[in-house]
Amino acid sequence: MRVLVTGGAGFIGSHVVDAFVADGHEVRVLDALLPAVHPAGVVPELPDGVEFLHGDVRDPATVDRALGGVDAVCHQAAMVGLGVDVQDMPEYAGINVLGTAVLLAGMARADIGRLVLAGSMVVYGEGRYECPVDGAVPAAARRREDLDAGRFEPPCPRCGRQLAWGPVTEETPPDPRNTYAATKLDQEHLAAAWASSTGGGAVALRYHNVYGPRMPRDTPYSGVAAIFRSALEAGRAPCVFEDGGQQRDFVHVTDVARANLCALTAEPPDGALRAYNVASGQPHTVGDMARALADAFGGPGPQVTGEYRIGDVRHVVASPARAADELGFRAQVTFADGMRAFATDPLRPAP
Ligand code: UD1
Repeated sequence: MRVLVTGGAGFIGSHVVDAFVADGHEVRVLDALLPAVHPAGVVPELPDGVEFLHGDVRDPATVDRALGGVDAVCHQAAMVGLGVDVQDMPEYAGINVLGTAVLLAGMARADIGRLVLAGSMVVYGEGRYECPVDGAVPAAARRREDLDAGRFEPPCPRCGRQLAWGPVTEETPPDPRNTYAATKLDQEHLAAAWASSTGGGAVALRYHNVYGPRMPRDTPYSGVAAIFRSALEAGRAPCVFEDGGQQRDFVHVTDVARANLCALTAEPPDGALRAYNVASGQPHTVGDMARALADAFGGPGPQVTGEYRIGDVRHVVASPARAADELGFRAQVTFADGMRAFATDPLRPAP
């Protein structure tokens, strides 16, 4: 297949490009080389035969050029992370929402009917919770006074009791709780609208906490694994927020790339969008992750700080069952192996 990978110079996108090329696909990359990820503005090395276009997905003329002769689009270009503050909103909405709309309109003009979209588990907000009295409930938003007092678990919205967390399935109603999350959900809605009006097929891959080689170093937009790894390299202890008991699903970037390949080559949904969790199915706490990484790196050991970030969710872990059943995707890199390797994997940009 001839595939356009937007954001193909980025962390996840570059691994997707590798996986597609290794499977015999012809790949073109469109990437804006955003300064947050590419401060030197230099095109990273790409596999032989990959065509690179430098440009912005918000520009219709650039998009038309990028889509020429293409059979399918894998849309990885996005502004990621929790961001700094509300002043980030226009940039997130511009790149993630407007950019996706421009791309989809271009795909309709070029009569391209296959889309794989980089989704995110952030669309769920808090994960799935069960109250011993009220059954399955959405977790109440965490209040500042509780967080300040070290009460990190979200309470039952009905009776205030402690909740038990469980895995989210794709049927869990979305509940975006920050700007990035809102834009990732918008992307899915736009792709669903495109699919139903053009008859195209869209797959949204809801990535959980992705880590691995080429992860961007420590920035306000970086995931926690890169922040901990950057701290260790600088001789500092990884600072674990809250009490370290937050559950996440850390999934290796090569597994995420393989999930994209499975989605690209599966029978596309007919005039619809179908969402899939992309997760290892093996949740770990952020505290465990800090410990595993610090041990593999050779110290210093993690420090649990009790600090918190507004907009962070407490637990979000996924059921990987639908992706296994329908796409044949199962993560292969174990937490132990992945974290051991991540202690020395190259990050971007180089120091
Ligand atoms: C992360 C990504 C999100 C992505 C999602 C799925 C970021 C900022 N967030 O969400 O964009 O869609 O995975 O791949 O990239 N923490 C610490 N110490 C730190 C930083 C964070 O303990 O120095 C904690 C946070 O409080 C949080 C957890 O680590 O509880 C995970 O944080 P992070 O990786 O930033 O974000 P997610 O919400 O999991």
